[in-house]
Amino acid sequence: MCFSMEIKEKIVEKIDRELQELKNRIGIDRKTLDEVFDRPTLLAFGKLISDRIIEYVDFPISTGKEANVFRAVTPDGKLIAVKVYRIATSNFKRMIYYIRGDPRFAPVGRSKREVIYQWVRKEMKNLERLAKINVPAPKPIKSFQNILVMQYLGSKSTPAPLIKDVELEDPEETCEQIIGYIRKMLLQAKLVHSDLSEYNILYYRKKPYLIDLAQGVILDHPMALDFLRRDVTNIVRFFRKYGVNRDEKRIYDELVGMIS
Ligand SMILES: Nc1ncnc2c1ncn2[C@@H]1O[C@H](COP(=O)(O)OP(=O)(O)OP(=O)(O)O)[C@@H](O)[C@H]1O
Ligand SMILES: [Mg+2]
Repeated sequence: MCFSMEIKEKIVEKIDRELQELKNRIGIDRKTLDEVFDRPTLLAFGKLISDRIIEYVDFPISTGKEANVFRAVTPDGKLIAVKVYRIATSNFKRMIYYIRGDPRFAPVGRSKREVIYQWVRKEMKNLERLAKINVPAPKPIKSFQNILVMQYLGSKSTPAPLIKDVELEDPEETCEQIIGYIRKMLLQAKLVHSDLSEYNILYYRKKPYLIDLAQGVILDHPMALDFLRRDVTNIVRFFRKYGVNRDEKRIYDELVGMIS
């Protein structure tokens, strides 16, 4: 199809107007919007708004290396968390490393954008696995392109803190719980978190909740057991500060013994 210059300008003007309206509706301040959201991300937000998954964004919860997490509100007033991967600053080479070897995914997409979309679908699928086996983590709601919508963990006023920022009442018990999650994920979902540490566990309603699941790999991944060892090491090291002394080698050997 061929348009005259004049018609093309009109179309661009119309799209720009629609994007401006969308920016107003999303509810994020202009500076963040312009810095974080490229045009496709804005359009993806528009789709989630028109599909009535999101009504508006409440406030930013976190700005990480690769993603921004926001609290948002659904059309029926429920609180949700929305994680948006920034296309420009995502380390897609690292992502490919964790996606390749996972039989749930076709050969990795060619463009950076496609890799990031796969990454978000991976986080969604991993959260679904955890929901299925009842390991505490945000319940997944929807993934679309570079946006993941999930259950919000926290109170009306504040998001749940990271486990590293709370004074645990019974660290021994919490350590056991987390090792229990690792075991259950391994045995019942064949899944290894692969980025587990006190930075990816929230403390909500007196219980640890696992977050940031995109790196999670299933046991077919050639590095799965190395990631498992690293997860166990991080957890044991964190609880050592509380005087909880667990033998990481023994825990690891026991876990591996259960799957072989
Ligand atoms: N469902 C949720 N409810 C409440 N707060 C959340 C939720 N998910 C994430 N957060 C908050 O956002 C922060 C960042 O989330 P997450 O760890 O998933 O991404 P990230 O570490 O920024 O990712 P990356 O490092 O890849 O950029 C968390 O530390 C937590 O404080
Ligand atoms: Mg994280």
